[in-house]
Amino acid sequence: MTTLPAPVARRRTFAIISHPDAGKTTLTEKLLLFGGAIQLAGAVKSRGEQRRAHSDWMKVERERGISVTASVMTFEYAEKTFNLLDTPGHEDFSEDTYRVLTAVDSAVMVIDAARGIQAQTRKLFEVCRLRDMPITTFINKMDREAQDPFDLLDEIEQTLQIEVTPAAWPIGMGSRFLGCYDLLNDQLILMDKAGRGEKPHQTETCKGLDDPKLDELLPADAVAELREQVEMVRGLCPKFDLEAYLEGNMTPVFFGSAINSFGVGELLKGLVTHAPPPRPQPSIEREIKPDEKKVSGFVFKIQANMDPKHRDRIAFLRLCSGHFKRGMKLRHVRTDKQIALNNAVLFLARDRELAEEAWAGDIIGIPNHGNLHIGDALTEGETLHFKGIPSFAPEHLQAARPVDPMRAKHLGRALQQLAEEGAAAVFKPRVGSDWIVGVVGVLQFEVLADRIRTEYDIPVRFEPTSLITARWVDTKDDILMKKFIRANEAALADDHRGDPVFLARNAWHLDRAGDDWPDINFLATKEQVA
Ligand code: G4P
Repeated sequence: MTTLPAPVARRRTFAIISHPDAGKTTLTEKLLLFGGAIQLAGAVKSRGEQRRAHSDWMKVERERGISVTASVMTFEYAEKTFNLLDTPGHEDFSEDTYRVLTAVDSAVMVIDAARGIQAQTRKLFEVCRLRDMPITTFINKMDREAQDPFDLLDEIEQTLQIEVTPAAWPIGMGSRFLGCYDLLNDQLILMDKAGRGEKPHQTETCKGLDDPKLDELLPADAVAELREQVEMVRGLCPKFDLEAYLEGNMTPVFFGSAINSFGVGELLKGLVTHAPPPRPQPSIEREIKPDEKKVSGFVFKIQANMDPKHRDRIAFLRLCSGHFKRGMKLRHVRTDKQIALNNAVLFLARDRELAEEAWAGDIIGIPNHGNLHIGDALTEGETLHFKGIPSFAPEHLQAARPVDPMRAKHLGRALQQLAEEGAAAVFKPRVGSDWIVGVVGVLQFEVLADRIRTEYDIPVRFEPTSLITARWVDTKDDILMKKFIRANEAALADDHRGDPVFLARNAWHLDRAGDDWPDINFLATKEQVA
């Protein structure tokens, strides 16, 4: 194994994945609190004034009560620098979530103890698995009537086909939930119950299950149950195996209650000891190692107007190698132009600050006017194309029309920008004057209409179409492609990059095209390789 430079070895870049409502936001808040990045829980999402002040920049987000866009939060804990990438939980925004997962080295999967594995958890888990990503599990809401912990372990193992090993064990549940026994360090750290907005206090530590302090501090039946269950679980489950975890084949499972801060300290300690430092990143040309001297990185997300006072766009760049310093000039591989990075920013819990320096594993935000696209690589000169940043075939297609027909051209420009940002797929049919907008979740239309109205000042209508899906078409045979295009002109459109797309009216239409043109590939996902 190579030795990483100390600042890189210290980085832990991860995301939390969960089904909406499982407690991702609450857990994020508590992790930041433990990391000292925020003084008071409630900074990530709280009701009322505080929440409004925090994310005023996105009206839709506020109105809907969902987190539409992902952001980055950096905090320090136990001499590690954690970069926590937030993922939008709502399934309509899953495309964004998938891209965030290309920029992290590990994930924490939050599961609601009463509900177990839910649809969205499974989908996100599959994406992590595709990338062999190490996953730590946090079973939340043990302070409510939950499923039996043994059943939950079984469910994870059976449904997700991954080996499980409990890393902490719950003492009781519901109103009798007292905390978690740390199985990895064989100790119990008791905490005061800390509500939202309170800092948790550590009260007592017991070393080992035979520590007589356990009998003093916990009710007799709870101690007896704990000893019995731990013995059972140690007999039943395999021991934690670091290698299996790093390969994505085993998940350590923590139990807890994010809202009370129970189990959060144990989880954080687990991440400190096990979560991997920056991993090598695949590119078409070669694998890029985090200890390489030269700076390289890729854009995995573009966000417009994060701050209403600055009408800017921020490209989120995952640094894959090297030591970035402010003022550096990097090559924008797609356009072969040099970009001077004087104003790149780092994201702290609530603020951004100028990035004086950053290392592999860090995420920097680059303000720009639209020249950086998702999937773009920045390097110190080398031609690199990073792999794995997906674009999904939209499942809902609608026609976009400006309320004022004179503004069609402006609308076209706005849509082009939103497509580059990754907010939607935008297609210009070869025949006709409408723009077709495709999204993965139908709620995105409302978000888009709102953004086009507020950010571009173009009132827009989305209208249903008879189209059901889009497929990128591709073949190495240029003559065949030309023939296909000629024969299917009416069903063809170009995406924002000018790549041809087949717009299908129904499943039969798509099947038929596939049968008629067996040597043309109809692609449901496309890698955003610039
Ligand atoms: P999300 O980001 O995954 O969507 O979940 P979020 O943290 O917003 O939590 C969803 C709901 O679950 C919230 O309740 C939150 O308070 C609650 N919750 C989170 N962790 C725990 C826990 O450990 N135990 C219990 N009992 N509840 C938990 P809400 O009613 O939607 O909001 P609020 O009024 O409580 O803020």
